[in-house]
Amino acid sequence: MDLEDRFERTVAAEQRVEPRDWMPDAYRGTLVRQMAQHAHSEIIGMQPEGNWISRAPSLRRKAILLAKVQDEAGHGLYLYAATETLGADRGELTDKLISGKQKYSSIFNYPTLSFADVGVIGWLVDGAAICNQVPLCRTSYGPYARAMIRICKEESFHQRQAYELLLTMMGGTDAQRAMVQESVDRWWWPSLMMFGPPDAESANTEQSMKWRIKRHTNDELRQRFVDMTVPQAEKLGVVLPDPELRWNPERGHHDFGQPDWEEFWRVVGGNGPCNAQRIAHRRRAHEDGAWVREAAAAHAAKRAAGAGA
Ligand code: 3HC
Repeated sequence: MDLEDRFERTVAAEQRVEPRDWMPDAYRGTLVRQMAQHAHSEIIGMQPEGNWISRAPSLRRKAILLAKVQDEAGHGLYLYAATETLGADRGELTDKLISGKQKYSSIFNYPTLSFADVGVIGWLVDGAAICNQVPLCRTSYGPYARAMIRICKEESFHQRQAYELLLTMMGGTDAQRAMVQESVDRWWWPSLMMFGPPDAESANTEQSMKWRIKRHTNDELRQRFVDMTVPQAEKLGVVLPDPELRWNPERGHHDFGQPDWEEFWRVVGGNGPCNAQRIAHRRRAHEDGAWVREAAAAHAAKRAAGAGA
């Protein structure tokens, strides 16, 4: 059996492709692309909510938000480590992010204008991430699938703490309820865009499904997210800002309107409300941390020289 046959049989049998296994260059390439963008998204995603750590309304909310943002850093590290099993270099990936050669999720290019955003992001954005990431626990590449298991467990904490925050606010004053609804109005459509373009415009879905990197298409996961979120919104007492949203008994799913795909491609292309700010912040953090990387490299070289002496 030649190497390609073995690869195809491994994927077809729902077994894991491991770093030591032969794999088509294109399989490796699209994995590095997707996993690097996933890692970039986790790291950039620390910024929007990070803005509110110093302004959280209580010590409890501050501690919870600190834990969540710290988790996102850890998710980024797991995923960068997983890309390294494919031969990627973490420093090069960071350079590609900062230079705009690699993407990160569109969702993190919107401003966080009120503390209700902390709840709505955890509820909708981390909720969408759960819809998208749970199937990735069954992705064909072993290190990616295994990284997803812990990430998904932590995402569940992210969504639950946020939903509890929103339930508290919705049980509060009219002003707090209005703050939550205003936040939902801003975040709903960008959350649907997280799942990627419609399948008909998705350049990568067909091949990624064949290789069992993706287990569902963009539209399938978007539908799953809408169906999951509608009852949660009803329980919260918020209105999802889509006049076409309704239960369709024939389909057994909710019908819903289409996001503004021109906005999506504008944001993906780097022209969203906060793209420049997010990348400038990441570039500054990378530059400010250069001395740590240099010191660690010098220390490692000294130890290696000592070991060799
Ligand atoms: N934001 C930015 N770019 C996007 C995008 C989005 N929401 N959706 C799609 N794109 C890009 C793709 O990267 C691709 O461009 P490329 O070929 O240059 O990489 C192009 O648009 C066409 O999209 P495709 O559907 O063909 O691309 P994919 O097959 O890669 O599907 C995806 C896109 C569904 C996001 C897929 O990459 C994926 O499932 N990634 C893993 C999950 C992930 O990255 N989630 C991001 C959020 S992380 C997060 O939510 C953190 C949590 O803690 C909140």
